[in-house]
Amino acid sequence: MSSTFRHWLPVMLLCLSLCACGGARPSADSLRDKYVSVNLQVTGPVDIPSDDQGGLKTFTPEQLVEGKKLFESNCQNCHVGGVTTPNPKISLNLIKLQGATPPRDNVAAIVKFIRKPMSYDGTEEVYNCRKTDWLKDKEAENLGAFVVRAAQRAKAWGTARLESNQDSITLPPK
Ligand code: HEC
Repeated sequence: MSSTFRHWLPVMLLCLSLCACGGARPSADSLRDKYVSVNLQVTGPVDIPSDDQGGLKTFTPEQLVEGKKLFESNCQNCHVGGVTTPNPKISLNLIKLQGATPPRDNVAAIVKFIRKPMSYDGTEEVYNCRKTDWLKDKEAENLGAFVVRAAQRAKAWGTARLESNQDSITLPPK
């Protein structure tokens, strides 16, 4: 082994290990989350409606993956695929969110809602949804961003089974 090589070997090894372990790990993980990359069509930062004034806020794939995980652990029991099993009329579908008073089609409105769930007409508190006042603001926002983006993009989000299958039904020729 030449002395030059011996001198550089540790440096080369260090570089190699940095290349192998460093880099954009979280983002690679989130790209592996197929639901977020395919169904929500999020592979890089996206702008999501954030308030009722038409404001937008940018969310990264990592934040949406966190939102999805929070949804899975806290909401999915009653809202799998965006439906509302205990009360199917009030699903998380975009049209439904838009039709609530006040509209729930933006991150701030969802955050407010999960802090204190209100009836569809906004007149009284309801107790059959899950009050998540223990979530940190950032977590609640990521969860809200996940719900809004899913309502915007995920195919068949919050629609009843028969409706959601319509796309795949082949109608006989007339
Ligand atoms: C125990 C079942 C249950 C759980 C868990 C639950 N929800 Fe709900 N959710 C409901 C019910 C029932 C309604 C309809 C409330 C009503 O009667 O107005 C609802 C309504 C909603 C609405 C309003 C939908 C609309 O169209 O206006 C949103 C948004 C919502 N839930 C989000 C969440 C989120 C986010 C979570 C997780 C943090 C969650 N829910 C957890 C049962 C649940």
